[in-house]
Amino acid sequence: MKGILLAGGAGSRLYPITKLYSKQLTIIYDKPLIYYPLSVLMLSGINEILIISNEETIPLYKKLFGDGAHLGLKISYVLQPAPNGIAQSFILGEEFINNDPVTLLLGDNIFYGHLDFLYEAVDTLTTGATIFGYRVTDPERYGIVEFNKSGQVLSIEEKPAKPKSDFAVPGVYVYDNQVVEIAKNLKPSKRGELEITDVNIEYLKKGQLSVKKIGRGVAWLDTGTPEALLQASNFFGVIEERQGMKIACIEEIAFNKGFINKEQFKDLINSIPQSTYRAYLERALLEDSEN
Ligand code: DAU
Repeated sequence: MKGILLAGGAGSRLYPITKLYSKQLTIIYDKPLIYYPLSVLMLSGINEILIISNEETIPLYKKLFGDGAHLGLKISYVLQPAPNGIAQSFILGEEFINNDPVTLLLGDNIFYGHLDFLYEAVDTLTTGATIFGYRVTDPERYGIVEFNKSGQVLSIEEKPAKPKSDFAVPGVYVYDNQVVEIAKNLKPSKRGELEITDVNIEYLKKGQLSVKKIGRGVAWLDTGTPEALLQASNFFGVIEERQGMKIACIEEIAFNKGFINKEQFKDLINSIPQSTYRAYLERALLEDSEN
């Protein structure tokens, strides 16, 4: 399974931050936003990752992650010259995807909690697509899935004025290799974008779309407005302070998932300047040695 992080876009609602770089580099509590979705891909066991973004931001991602080798990852980058739609990821990423299935994660989507729903989808997908449904109070802002009484999917609509349900499709999608051809055959929507919802509708028409509902044990946080960013920072600040454990700490995850061994983890820690972040990783290493 390959992974794509789509992390560009105009981000106009976050101006003036987004005058400098794309919103996925804004800070959520103690680390850039993109660490959260990157860590979700890593926790799902995905180590070949393509980051798609704009001209201003790609150099900054490269500064953060390089080729990913220090994390036991293979990270590559592709330019999206203009934000022409989420589904363009599969056209821009065709060479990277090659003949494999692919999980797309939007670089501004934060998931926290029991992520087994995703790990299972990534592990078990054979044919078709698996997407998810998450209950929200503002369904007109999202892709919306309608179910019948027995739980079958009836329709999916992008930002409907009159939503047929409260189940939004979050920005994480698990697809087989057909997604590349499907994306290539899409027509731009009225707003001029290649819509991810149209990809999902194609899978639905083929009878190959599975939509799994995510329950309240998972937090799917919004990052679309300054208020939402503050809430997300507070959320993770409270949990990290209380537990003394970091969330979305990519170095720790790389070690725990076995992407890097102990020696590599030590080298990685030594490359980090003296800081509470480094002290945290040193403690993680020590605790591992004691166990
Ligand atoms: O967050 C989930 C929702 O994401 C889904 O429910 C919707 O079906 C889906 O269309 C999408 O809706 P948004 O309106 O939130 O998408 P937005 O245009 O804000 O793009 C999501 C992220 O992807 C954002 O961080 C910017 C980035 N992006 C977006 C586009 C269209 C790109 O990097 N390139 C793009 O071309």
